[in-house]
Amino acid sequence: MNIQALLNDKVAAAMVAAGAPEGSPAAVRQSAKPQFGDYQANGIMGVAKKLGCNPREFAQKVLDVLDLDGMAEKTEIAGPGFINIFLSTEWLAAKADEALASDRLGVAEAEKQNIVVDYSAPNVAKEMHVGHLRSTIIGDAVVRTLEFMGHNVIRANHLGDWGTQFGMLIANLERHEAQGGDISMDLSDIEGFYRESKKLYDEDEEFAKTARNYVVRLQSGDEYCKEKWQQLVKITLEQNQRNYDRLNVSLTDKDVMGESKYNGMLAGIVEDLKAQGLAVEDDGAMVVFLDEYKNKDGEPMGVIIQKRDGGFLYTTTDIACAKYRYETFNADRVLYFIDSRQHQHLMQAWTIVRKAGYVPESMSLEHHAFGMMLGKDGKPFKTRAGGTVRLADLLDEAEVRAKKLIEEKNPELSAEEKDNIANTVAMAAVKYADLSKHRTTDYVFDWDNMLAFEGNTAPYMQYAYTRVASIFNKAGIDASSIQGQIIVSEEKEKALVSKLLQFEEAVDGVAREGQPHIMCSYLFELAGTFSSFYEACPILNAEGETKQSRLKLAALTAKTIKQGLDLLGIKTLERM
Ligand code: ARG
Repeated sequence: MNIQALLNDKVAAAMVAAGAPEGSPAAVRQSAKPQFGDYQANGIMGVAKKLGCNPREFAQKVLDVLDLDGMAEKTEIAGPGFINIFLSTEWLAAKADEALASDRLGVAEAEKQNIVVDYSAPNVAKEMHVGHLRSTIIGDAVVRTLEFMGHNVIRANHLGDWGTQFGMLIANLERHEAQGGDISMDLSDIEGFYRESKKLYDEDEEFAKTARNYVVRLQSGDEYCKEKWQQLVKITLEQNQRNYDRLNVSLTDKDVMGESKYNGMLAGIVEDLKAQGLAVEDDGAMVVFLDEYKNKDGEPMGVIIQKRDGGFLYTTTDIACAKYRYETFNADRVLYFIDSRQHQHLMQAWTIVRKAGYVPESMSLEHHAFGMMLGKDGKPFKTRAGGTVRLADLLDEAEVRAKKLIEEKNPELSAEEKDNIANTVAMAAVKYADLSKHRTTDYVFDWDNMLAFEGNTAPYMQYAYTRVASIFNKAGIDASSIQGQIIVSEEKEKALVSKLLQFEEAVDGVAREGQPHIMCSYLFELAGTFSSFYEACPILNAEGETKQSRLKLAALTAKTIKQGLDLLGIKTLERM
């Protein structure tokens, strides 16, 4: 149950009953301090101002009609007209019992929507690099969250698998085969293969001629070229899959919906945009002029959708792709996790899509942009030599560093156990460091911070889970067989229960805003709240029903942390 949303609805209804216009915001939020209750309604002052009445008097009218149905033990008017809501401890205890008994922690099933998530989207014959890392892990966390809520989620890996570069790649692949090389070996360094192809193209006129010819043949559906192209796609996908698997990312080959998929739609779209009067010929190219965007001379900006040589562009593909997502999936929302530098590109494509009537307003197109990954020096993250960092190398380094750490912390573990812990911690650290930051800002990639056992980090959260789980292991208690009911009597117990029951608010926040850091912050707060509870309220040394109740609170904490980390795509360990 999303308590905030529920209280918000109830206060909003009471406001209307007290004379506020329909739709007035109640603005119920979690209170910042315990003396202000658990939740606070902040919307009274705004409405009172509109109505021209005294806010505290209006607040009283709202309280007179507010029916919180046993949820609250106290409500009060504070300051200029806030309403503080103190939840009832019995109600909280009963809800916590329900959450523990539920296999989805009491989180309500969402009203099912069709949601397409466009993420990862690396390019064929290019290594995945750190830019794709952000899209991949943020997108995957949101996907997991939406699925957990009960939505129908379509993962769309918009692979860069089309374009004129394939001419030179096919020509070079052919060259390697003719030399009798081991193709999978030759392409294990796919980026090297790409560079080599480019060099040949630039320096060898004969090669360039062949390459250009292959572009034309591939585009006209020539079997030979298609087969070679497929080979390149397959090798790239195999390499990417290794990264996905290591990172516990849920993408597979089934989710690939690359640029080539929309190729057959492009000519028709250009025709249609022309027929609708949206696209016009300009210097041999087909262009859509958008009043919404001005160029530096203040004139409507022209978006090219077909070049003079007949070739289509990245934007043309994204126009087709949005249309396809509406027609094929009947999507309610399409979430794009792409670098902020592509914002204008997307806005232009979508403006055209809306104007052409390809998707109705009811389908929401959302760019969930993110900033760059920076090195400790504040500059874009690069290798020492200034090249892009291969994702696979980055993950290798994370493992080496985590291994050293575990070696120091737990020398007594078996080699196998150390490896397992190190790998789990390493991947979690890389992911969590990214997920825990506000998505839209650039973020500094810093090994020491991400592997620290203090602060809002993966090792801290994983360790917090292990610590709670160990309470049960140490005492030989099976967390699922605890008897009795949750009883809330101490202040720290109440704080813990309220925090536990805010899980759904975090889930909804991630889903709404596409911001996994909301979940990270929540889990970090929960771990802290549990620590204070654990210090103040002994568990195993408590007696009778208090002991049972506290064990249940610990079990619910462990379950919530595990579920929350799972939605972020982060694994937990029973021992570390
Ligand atoms: N392949 C592109 C890149 O590497 C990202 C594609 C994002 N998705 C989209 N629908 N344009 O920059």
